[in-house]
Amino acid sequence: MNLIPIIAIDGPSASGKGSVAQRVAEALGFHFLDSGALYRLTALAAGRRGVNWDDEVGVAGVAVALDVSFQGEHVLLDGAEVAHAIRSEDIGVGASRVAALPAVRAALLERQRAFARMPGLVADGRDMGSVVFPDAALKVFLTASAEVRAERRYRQLLERGEEADLAAITDDLRARDERDRARAVAPLMQLPDARPLDTSGLGIDQAVAQVLAWWREVHVNA
Ligand code: CDP
Ligand code: CDP
Repeated sequence: MNLIPIIAIDGPSASGKGSVAQRVAEALGFHFLDSGALYRLTALAAGRRGVNWDDEVGVAGVAVALDVSFQGEHVLLDGAEVAHAIRSEDIGVGASRVAALPAVRAALLERQRAFARMPGLVADGRDMGSVVFPDAALKVFLTASAEVRAERRYRQLLERGEEADLAAITDDLRARDERDRARAVAPLMQLPDARPLDTSGLGIDQAVAQVLAWWREVHVNA
């Protein structure tokens, strides 16, 4: 069992992982790791350096040398703000392509583990409970129906003032889910020791309350 309390929240795209994990971290005063951001940053940095997203050795080199810093809402790559740039659907697709390359995953492993610090960490992604923090005290698998997730992503893009096409988003989410579940390394899957939480009909507050209730249960029994 890890001495640093860790809550691992995994699940498919737009299941609510990021929003829920961030709020749980705030409620507990824990650190927060958005592991997807590291894959997105790797895809963005590779693109900017002219490295093809399928070039495993090239992209792994970019991942190892990634110069990033997270400061609240700000995300800096090579010292420049990219918080907005990494959230595009194009970079989401790039992230899922580079994330399928074993050398890239290996290159980002220790960087993710370094986020584990006292008093605790809430980490969200696809393999937080399976590979990065297998000893996490609490593992949660968030889901929501494909329709609900596509609708959420659509609204999210509109709220950001970006163009959005629901049919294209639905296709994109489906392709990304497929790639994340089918890949040979660290595929997205529900572990037997992860607690499932379907957020299709749940608001963020309700989902956060459930995770906090589970945390209290685990914590008391630890
Ligand atoms: O991190 P992930 O891609 O799993 O999802 P997210 O970015 O946290 O959530 C995607 C969108 O769904 C955001 O706009 C959230 O506000 C919204 N959401 C929701 O409406 N209800 C939930 N229970 C969870 C998220
Ligand atoms: O916000 P959304 O859930 O759509 O994506 P994200 O969490 O930012 O992750 C972007 C992509 O990175 C995913 O489609 C995964 O392919 C990959 N990823 C991963 O492979 N492992 C993680 N721990 C986190 C993200």
